[in-house]
Amino acid sequence: MTNTNNELAFLQQQARIRWSIEADITRLFAAEDEGLRYALAVAKEGGLPEIQISPMQGKFLQLMAAACHARKILEIGSLAGYSGIWLARALPTDGRLITLEVNPHHADIVRRSFAKAGVADRTELRMGKALDLLPQLESEAPFDLVFIDADKAPYPQYLEWALRLSRPGSIIIADNCVRRGEAFHPSDDEGSKGLFEYNQRIANDPRLVSLVLPMDEDYTDGFAIAVVRS
Ligand code: SAH
Ligand code: DHB
Ligand code: MG
Repeated sequence: MTNTNNELAFLQQQARIRWSIEADITRLFAAEDEGLRYALAVAKEGGLPEIQISPMQGKFLQLMAAACHARKILEIGSLAGYSGIWLARALPTDGRLITLEVNPHHADIVRRSFAKAGVADRTELRMGKALDLLPQLESEAPFDLVFIDADKAPYPQYLEWALRLSRPGSIIIADNCVRRGEAFHPSDDEGSKGLFEYNQRIANDPRLVSLVLPMDEDYTDGFAIAVVRS
């Protein structure tokens, strides 16, 4: 009993340390301004699920955009525009973010969020199923950065499109590529199979140098990052 209590106390203490570290990093490097907070507020009002990336992940996207000198960014899965605002703010004033969203109610909110955050001039939302819209983007390629965060089953197909629409040095980032470990040990669920296949492909494709980094949901979820080799 005492051992169990000690172990529990230890685990609780470790969790508190992790949360306080994340809060410190967020405060120093990834503070949200009014525009980002507005996107979260209208999403909540509109009844959207709270499944946007974390502030640290938003800053990480900006870091990656800076690393590849991004002028053109493609996002698959906009939700309320929260990740799109982080991405758009990493662009030069003549840069462009194209974001794909299937749900018209979400699309409405995204347009409002982008306007409020002052990035309406650099962003364009295209409504429809990503797999229907992606073939129309070939004339606008290459994209310097692609962020994949829509439905999980077609992630391997999104990867094929990202490769087709990128250049050497482009960065392809996908959310939810840990998912409590399901992305490495998939269940029967089509989503976890898609994530598993995605990780297998980026790990083994000689055109890419890749890594998955746990950085969300108390390190039980995170980004897969793949750089297209020169
Ligand atoms: N990137 C967002 C979160 C995206 S949540 C952020 O961090 O702020 C996933 C979004 O993908 C939802 O808005 C959902 O409607 C959209 N989506 C799901 N399936 C899609 C599809 N096939 N094509 C385009 N968008 C899709
Ligand atoms: C879900 C989707 C996401 O993209 C995410 O980051 C978290 C949860 C979901 O569909 O449940
Ligand atoms: Mg996600």
